[in-house]
Amino acid sequence: MTRLKVLSVASEVFPLVKTGGLADVAGALPGALSRENIQATTLAPGYPALLAKLDSAEPVHRYDSLFGGPARLLAAKAGELNLFILDAPHLFTRDGNIYAGPDGLDWPDNAQRFAALARVAADIGKGAATSFAPDIVHAHDWQAALAPAYLHYDGGRRPGTVITVHNLAFQGHFPASLLAALELPPDSLVIDGVEYFGGIGFLKAGLQFADRITTVSPTYAREIMTPESGMALDGLLRRRASAVEGIVNGIDVDVWNPEDDAHLPQPYSAARIDMRATNKTALQRRMDLEPKANAPLFGVVTRISSQKGLDLLLDALPALVEQGGQLALLGSGDRVLQEAFAQAARDHAGAVGCIFEYDEGIAHLVQAGSDFILVPSRFEPCGLTQLCALRYGAAPIVARVGGLADTVIDANEAALAAGVATGLQFAPPAADQLAYALKRAGTLYQDAGAMRRLRLNGMRADVSWRGPAKRYAALYQEIAAANAGSATDAA
Ligand code: ADP
Ligand code: GLC
Repeated sequence: MTRLKVLSVASEVFPLVKTGGLADVAGALPGALSRENIQATTLAPGYPALLAKLDSAEPVHRYDSLFGGPARLLAAKAGELNLFILDAPHLFTRDGNIYAGPDGLDWPDNAQRFAALARVAADIGKGAATSFAPDIVHAHDWQAALAPAYLHYDGGRRPGTVITVHNLAFQGHFPASLLAALELPPDSLVIDGVEYFGGIGFLKAGLQFADRITTVSPTYAREIMTPESGMALDGLLRRRASAVEGIVNGIDVDVWNPEDDAHLPQPYSAARIDMRATNKTALQRRMDLEPKANAPLFGVVTRISSQKGLDLLLDALPALVEQGGQLALLGSGDRVLQEAFAQAARDHAGAVGCIFEYDEGIAHLVQAGSDFILVPSRFEPCGLTQLCALRYGAAPIVARVGGLADTVIDANEAALAAGVATGLQFAPPAADQLAYALKRAGTLYQDAGAMRRLRLNGMRADVSWRGPAKRYAALYQEIAAANAGSATDAA
């Protein structure tokens, strides 16, 4: 089969710049695809922090004016990553978060910033970089979602297109008055175009125009076609149901490898799982928890937001503490929730520990030192922390939603008897159900044999990108074949 070229378009890429799981996916999928005979290059914005991490960069295309200023397209390398970088200082050279200013508010020109990313993706799709003419443009989330729309309105021969929804809650909705500024044609502001509730919907446009739509788990794919979880895009998704597919994420098993992890005081393997105890002690010390070897330790690594159900955990905390359990929380986000957890740590000194930071190293220690990892999300397109937990021998306790439902096997009677359980699920995502799951976990923890089995099952589960990369490769091949067919029809 021919070696297809794929342009992956994302607003964040691990290890260059990351706010969440999107970066992990954008950073790891290309490497896995190369083993499936797919050559993937990633287009990302030239934020200062990202530019500083490039090993090499050379200009391959120039814009005298791209949405208000001059810009360059760089072909770059960073480690194993092949990149195109949109170097547009008027859009990306600024202090603060990649999406929001120091005041915490979204940058006022986010429409232009990410439309520029998509515009350039479409230009590469049309041949702007002579070294790389993609067969497929693969847009991730709303920030890249206008790419299929630009390619549609540009007309003429175009590459195939895919959009992946990592989180339907973020849609990129902007005023209709920006239409001309975003270089979208006047007739695009219609229901079958980019129009969305009277404005311009970036994600809506991507869902409308991409040849194929994927999301990051089969259960989330089903959920987003329902009015309850479709966030007003379910109608469009149902209309396009035959183009929709759910592909579960993997994790980078080299970055997340307990046998060779520089962040851990004690690396370990499934064969030497008892060695985790040293990491548990280190985590207890790091989080100011009492150094109790036999207290069930529940870890959390998360953005602190309502999506992640951290308020449910606050309400269920008595169930955890009363059975002698400990909580180690690493997270940042919502100020009110953070303060409530800080108060809980004061109220339950030695049993509840929190670090309100974003820290890769501590995230690894939480995975390696906890007995359980809690993911009580209200909704979760895929979720990566439960996959890391499986690989690190911490049993995930998850709400039965989205990708959490698809990746953790609940320790019910049948699964325990068959010896296949990897964690615990609870439903619906509510505090009383979480409290009940915490109690089940406490009981399980007393059964050393069952607990060991659970951990080992998790460590042996395949959470790598190998399977998912095969699915993406097959999808690209299908799109390319259909595209070649339509080109022949047109000739
Ligand atoms: P989401 O993208 O919705 O935040 P995911 O589970 O898909 O959720 O991905 C989250 C990623 O971010 C994981 O790689 C996780 O380890 C990491 N992460 C989240 N919070 C923190 C934190 N406070 N410190 C370090 N890593 C974090
Ligand atoms: C989003 C989702 C998360 C998913 C990640 C990567 O951030 O919230 O569930 O794992 O994207 O696809």
